[in-house]
Amino acid sequence: MRIVVLVSGTGSNLQAVIDAVKAGELDVEIAAVGADREGTYGVERSDEAGFETFVVNFNSFPTRAEWDAALTEKVASYAPDVVVSSGFMRIVSEDFIARFGGRYLNTHPALLPAFPGAHGVRDALAYGVKVTGCTVHWADAGVDTGPIVAQEAVAIADGEDEDTLHERIKVVERRLLVDVLRRLAAGELKPPAPAPAAL
Ligand code: GRF
Repeated sequence: MRIVVLVSGTGSNLQAVIDAVKAGELDVEIAAVGADREGTYGVERSDEAGFETFVVNFNSFPTRAEWDAALTEKVASYAPDVVVSSGFMRIVSEDFIARFGGRYLNTHPALLPAFPGAHGVRDALAYGVKVTGCTVHWADAGVDTGPIVAQEAVAIADGEDEDTLHERIKVVERRLLVDVLRRLAAGELKPPAPAPAAL
């Protein structure tokens, strides 16, 4: 199974995938790692690990549609079976997702459909929930929406702050992501059926 991983930040979840592949625990080929901006640690660490990398810089395109089209073509050039959004902080279009047969996997640091968006950890803390967690799901063109593949709960400790909670969630999130990829590669999990062609 060939994957392309998209990142916007440090890529620590991606690192877990890289480690599992290098340890021979995950039968996945990382065809490339891409980012929406220059200078991400996610791309830097992928370079260092010897993987192909690319940047399709959101700010270099006059419109979102043009950026999205360029990203689509770039990702498609690697012919991935699955595209993974791992801390990729951009919404992609329906056309992007359709191009990859709906096989666009996202991870989110909350128990969706609760607390979608860029601040899932902060919002859960602010609401005062006692349990949050993480979700791996097939993403559609909404904000953290689409069929859920795996979830795991994380209890919130009294007085915990956003950084420590997010780090504890990410420990679980990494394991969940690697496990979902392993089950997909082994054929234990089926990717979503592609959307029917428009009439
Ligand atoms: C993860 O919690 C992801 O779900 C969220 O941002 C974090 C990415 O962390 N959207 P990293 O870049 O993998 O360290």
